[in-house]
Amino acid sequence: MSTTAVGYLGGVASPESLASQVGISVLKLGGNAVDAAVAIGFALAVTFPSAGNIGGGGFLLYRHPSGHNVAIDFREMAPGLSTSNMYLDGNGNVLLGDGGSVDGYRACGVPGSVAGFEEAWRRYGSGRISWGQLVDPAVQLASSGFPMPNSLRKSLSLSAERIERDATFQDVFLDKTPLGWLPKKHGTTIRQPKLAETLTRIRDRGATDFYAGVTARLLASDIQQNGGVLSTTDLAAYRAIRRKPLVGRFMHHDVLTMPPPSSGGIALLQMLGMLQACDPLPDAYSPTYIHIVAQAMRRAFRDRSEYLGDADFVDVPVRSLLDGSYIAKLKRGLSAGMAVRTDDLPPARNLKDESEQTTHFTVIDRFGGVVSTTYTLNGSYGAAVISKSTGIILNNEMDDFTAKVGVPNQFGLIQSAKNAIQPRKRPLSSMTPTIVVDNEGQIRIATGSPGGPTIINSVLHTILQSVYFDKGVHESVAAPRFHHQWKPEVLQLERSLIGVRPQLASLGYETSLRTLGDVHAGSWNRRSGVIMSSDPRGTGEALAE
Ligand code: DON
Repeated sequence: MSTTAVGYLGGVASPESLASQVGISVLKLGGNAVDAAVAIGFALAVTFPSAGNIGGGGFLLYRHPSGHNVAIDFREMAPGLSTSNMYLDGNGNVLLGDGGSVDGYRACGVPGSVAGFEEAWRRYGSGRISWGQLVDPAVQLASSGFPMPNSLRKSLSLSAERIERDATFQDVFLDKTPLGWLPKKHGTTIRQPKLAETLTRIRDRGATDFYAGVTARLLASDIQQNGGVLSTTDLAAYRAIRRKPLVGRFMHHDVLTMPPPSSGGIALLQMLGMLQACDPLPDAYSPTYIHIVAQAMRRAFRDRSEYLGDADFVDVPVRSLLDGSYIAKLKRGLSAGMAVRTDDLPPARNLKDESEQTTHFTVIDRFGGVVSTTYTLNGSYGAAVISKSTGIILNNEMDDFTAKVGVPNQFGLIQSAKNAIQPRKRPLSSMTPTIVVDNEGQIRIATGSPGGPTIINSVLHTILQSVYFDKGVHESVAAPRFHHQWKPEVLQLERSLIGVRPQLASLGYETSLRTLGDVHAGSWNRRSGVIMSSDPRGTGEALAE
């Protein structure tokens, strides 16, 4: 398995090897980056079930070789019967488990992935590869099966307690043993017959089947029989939305990134703006560097918490938040000597070391067209239930809304009423697919990651390494990461930064250790072709031709 690849005719980097192979074979057939991304998206729904999906949603950012760019928002949407307090019990406490915002059928938002992929292929595909050709590899992987990899066993074990109560999870992925339910043995063929039937319908009839056909009816009926509120009307009303990417400037590069309902693009551009104004930055990973970058993170995450939500429903002051004079104001006081403020903060519910819950992949074609896609079920294996008649793993994206103002969600994020639940609204996301372009129109780095709120900072680190410190793609992806999200008042460090912990403590930081992100990135240059990189922290594969 290779984490880096160089070529001239295009390349892919995804978190799972079979899906990367599907992507590269589409490029070899003459498909463009969008075609290959769609095929990868469907393949991951089969081979990377913790996060790959057709039952979730995400964002696809595309830059056409001509320079035209577009963001496709296929984020989940709250069902029509949702209410702002649907996850509060009689005492006003947030319900998480079965029936709450995290586990089970009530946690599920209207899935967007199939609509997003169809919209991308229809508008921006090369026209050389049919829809059927893009979905078929996923059909084959689901019906003929694939050998259980160790990486999947490990991720299933981490979620065992949540998924083992579900009959389809048991049938497809688990074995009953004297020790209880355990992942099937390494090498066992994993077949997903119901999912194969659903993918076959999608292959033959398109997204219409998912939103207004047999799949729509089966899915809504499974959800409603199990206490969920999602209906066929919700599915029929779902649309992927084309949006204008946010475009910022950083050290003579254009940074194309995701607008709301992502919070990631705004936070990223704010941080890059503050840090550019600090130029020259101290040496990378010196205590002062970490201190300055962490303080930029705190400021951006404070704004995320206060101002951001789905801009189609609430007023999000995007222009003001990205205005040069506002960023200059944020930057003021960002200096080596400043103090770390410690507030009395509610503890995060669950800041765990889990990087497999969302997934990112990057594709670059021979013409320099680039797709950067992040999509997700939210938690690992989403709501931990599979719709039994469709084989679809359901998302738990409703937990990304503000269930109650002031109470942290599963990523420890405190969010405002701007992100409150409303029918048909999209929950605020941290997913940050990003493409950085130089002044000659070449791709300096296209990047993205899973990791909840840490996504935004993982993307920031890869861009700082690539653009500011002039590192190659793979070095930028492999470089250490750290994360601050304002609340809780903890600086999370990767283990490789353990050496500076004492100095950070003397600056006033409480620190903790964890692995951050699973970045899949690439670059493209007219003279040297493509370089693709899969994060050495993960189990992905980069391939190029
Ligand atoms: O959209 C979001 O921000 C989250 N649903 C992403 C979840 C995620 O990245 C989990 N990965 N570790």
